[in-house]
Amino acid sequence: MTNILTLNGSPKTEGSVSRDLVERFVDKWRAQNTASVVARDVGTTPPPHLDEATIGAFYTPEDARSDDQQARIAFSDELVGELEAANVIVIGAPMHNFGLPSGLKAWIDHVARVGRTFKYTENGPEGLLTGKKVYVLTARGGNYSESSPAHAMDHQAPYLRTVLGFLGLDDVTFIHAQGVAGGEDGIRAAEVEVDRAVATALRRLAA
Ligand SMILES: Cc1cc2nc3c(=O)[nH]c(=O)nc-3n(C[C@H](O)[C@H](O)[C@H](O)COP(=O)(O)O)c2cc1C
Repeated sequence: MTNILTLNGSPKTEGSVSRDLVERFVDKWRAQNTASVVARDVGTTPPPHLDEATIGAFYTPEDARSDDQQARIAFSDELVGELEAANVIVIGAPMHNFGLPSGLKAWIDHVARVGRTFKYTENGPEGLLTGKKVYVLTARGGNYSESSPAHAMDHQAPYLRTVLGFLGLDDVTFIHAQGVAGGEDGIRAAEVEVDRAVATALRRLAA
């Protein structure tokens, strides 16, 4: 059975475009196949900002951690465990100020863990979260598509591609609801893409 982890970054519980897309993805999947779904909501319940002691705990080898350090990273371990258990990860990512909402960024800070989700080798850093499929469903008020003059102002998708790849999550499909401040067209187009992505995934699963 497929284990889906959904990660919602929108602080909005009503009228969130990215949440609706994540929900649509899961509903479409479940209408045609079985899946266990774990839902992590970092929009309404953001992980805490990293503090000095927590960073210290991250960089202390497990067998050398004090009880206090162990307690500090217990939440991070839970978030990493959710990622490790998933084969499909669906991220709902609103654009906030040309990048990610802070809850989603805080989540990244908790799951980018040396020795756990990446390691340093002679050939440089190596991501450890391999063999997973990621869908990033974004919503943005403006249009940042490649043909748009605002394309270079998109610091959301390129950043996510970089940091997910750093963790070994290099099979990422982006679906963007562009220009949602100007009407529904971008949302409708993204919905069609979500439906198509689910159909493609399930076809591959059945093959
Ligand atoms: C705090 C905040 C910052 C935003 N910054 C941007 C931005 O930089 N560029 C943009 O195109 N839209 C921006 N928007 C609009 C959102 O991207 C848009 O409303 C989107 O639908 C948010 O996703 P959600 O509906 O899932 O919350 C911003 C919205 C908020 C609330």
